[in-house]
Amino acid sequence: MKIVVIGGTGLIGAKTVAILRQGGHEVVAASPKSGVNTITGEGVKEAVAGAQVVIDLANSPSFEDKAVLEFFETSGRNLLPAEATASVRHHIALSIVGTDRTDNGYFRAKLAQEKLIAASGIPYTIIRATQFMEFLGGIADSSADRNIVRLPPILFQPIAADDVAAIVADVALAAPRGGIVEIAGPERAPFNEIVARYLKAVGDPRQVLRDPEARYWGGRVEELSLVPLGEARLGHIGLDEWLRRSQTKA
Ligand SMILES: NC(=O)c1ccc[n+]([C@@H]2O[C@H](COP(=O)([O-])OP(=O)(O)OC[C@H]3O[C@@H](n4cnc5c(N)ncnc54)[C@H](OP(=O)(O)O)[C@@H]3O)[C@@H](O)[C@H]2O)c1
Repeated sequence: MKIVVIGGTGLIGAKTVAILRQGGHEVVAASPKSGVNTITGEGVKEAVAGAQVVIDLANSPSFEDKAVLEFFETSGRNLLPAEATASVRHHIALSIVGTDRTDNGYFRAKLAQEKLIAASGIPYTIIRATQFMEFLGGIADSSADRNIVRLPPILFQPIAADDVAAIVADVALAAPRGGIVEIAGPERAPFNEIVARYLKAVGDPRQVLRDPEARYWGGRVEELSLVPLGEARLGHIGLDEWLRRSQTKA
């Protein structure tokens, strides 16, 4: 089966490509580096020709509100019609738990991406994941003022990229759900506590302050904004195990 992974060189993309290739599938790792650009349209038609499955794991180079919205809208408008022409049987995209529950600009852009997929007529599955553990350092940076990181005590349930990629590969080989599947890490705890554990483990001296008023990338968040509300598929790698694996690799 031919499977195209858009963003196949990224964090989740490269891991997903490796898993699917190990399973014996013909996998195209598509990205601007390999001449496939969903913003300019370059190479898109050629990449998806003859594909049964397309997995969209691309990400915007800029997280600025307007730029990210433009990225996911333009990308969807170039990619989805090309897939329809190629009679692709399953489109999978990776979105975020809570896209419809905060006023965060990045989440709004992911919601726009989801809407384009649902309206495309292509059989699809949208996977909404919680924050990747690999993103914890970036979250601390975005919430830091010199040596103080301010984060709200809302519930948080990050997932390791290895778990995300395994689930994405699995979903891609199953029948389209025509809807959303939510995935999360195995542990749920207050946001500030998880980031404090991460910083301590990596030897980062910054101090995390519990601040109920603190925002997440500029967006307002509440107790349940970032965690699945209903049934979710859980990864197996907890934070301690992920830290141990990352430290062994380093
Ligand atoms: N971070 C989180 O916590 C989180 C949580 C849930 C969901 N997600 C979603 O997960 C997805 C994957 O994220 P990631 O962290 O794995 O991304 P990443 O590591 O930043 O990789 C981005 C990928 O997108 C490709 N790309 C960039 N511009 C492109 C374009 N114009 N056309 C085609 N491909 C393009 C890049 O290709 P090059 O290598 O050629 O530049 C790269 O392969 C994203 O859609 C993100 O919204 C993220």
